Amino acid sequence: MGKGKNNIKKIAVFTSGGDAPGMNAAIRAVVRTAINYGTEVYGVIRGYDGLINGDFIKLDSKAVGGIIQRGGTILQSARSKEFRTKEGRQKAYNNLVSEGIDAVIAIGGDGTFTGANIFSQEFGIPTIGIPGTIDNDLFGSDATIGYDTAMNTVVDAIDKIKDTAGSHNRLFFVEVMGRDAGFIALNTGIATGAEAILIPEKVTYLEDLVITLKRNKRKGKNSAIIIVAEGDDSGGAYELASKVKEVDNSYSTRVSILGHMQRGGSPTLADRVLASQLGFYAVEALFLGHKGEMVGIINGKLAYTSMELAIKQNADISTELLRLARILSI
Ligand code: F6P
Repeated sequence: MGKGKNNIKKIAVFTSGGDAPGMNAAIRAVVRTAINYGTEVYGVIRGYDGLINGDFIKLDSKAVGGIIQRGGTILQSARSKEFRTKEGRQKAYNNLVSEGIDAVIAIGGDGTFTGANIFSQEFGIPTIGIPGTIDNDLFGSDATIGYDTAMNTVVDAIDKIKDTAGSHNRLFFVEVMGRDAGFIALNTGIATGAEAILIPEKVTYLEDLVITLKRNKRKGKNSAIIIVAEGDDSGGAYELASKVKEVDNSYSTRVSILGHMQRGGSPTLADRVLASQLGFYAVEALFLGHKGEMVGIINGKLAYTSMELAIKQNADISTELLRLARILSI
């Protein structure tokens, strides 16, 4: 690829929405790829709020040194209300123009791309999205940045909960994040040998769960882990635990909400490599004239998906994995 293709001389990069481990590795890749092609990069602080307030910092190669292994995001993040208004977006655009920025890279999830999509359509500024969210709920990439790390964090936590569940013959309801998607729950459930996995993509029947628990008891299983995705229709771990208690009060029950610990920590190897690839491809995508698209990796290969499709279409959850999980937990 030649230098400064498509006359792009200054790129703005920001992270927005829920942070995800690996976002720093993506920022690093964006900065160093752009610099390699003679293009300057400006980091925007606190996502869309920073665009609206004109909060930019120039990022050179050194500024992104020593961050590949760090969780969180050096650019910080926010969920901006003002950017949802036309006036807010106009302010953001004016700031980009006065900084001389001619392209934008947005790292985030659903909400981030919804904003980026409207913004690039309204003002025609070339914008590329990088999928960064622990939820893995975007169409157009086999995995999103942060998903692998979050799952490893969950597995580590549940392994520990299993130790104490076994010592006390307890039934644990463990709630994991994922917003409206059950990817984290399904995969961590398989990896920890959970007795049941409840996800939003599948209707939860209390009777079925109670039957499973009774069957386990008959087989001599004295403790159990039920993984509940936060978006499950049962209403979450606390509600489900109390519904089960109403039907069968014979268990010593505890609830554990893993919460925001799932968003922190040093990114795994998989997330660092994915983030490096996507940061690199996002810059090249701009130089190749792509706009309004998200870069992703599907079956090991670079894939472009319109941001509109990435947020509208549901990422497929594997029914095969669900079937397998049920059989392996008997
Ligand atoms: O999108 C990432 C995520 O952690 C979801 O899993 C969760 O529903 C949400 O963000 C929590 O948002 P907040 O950090 O604003 O409480």
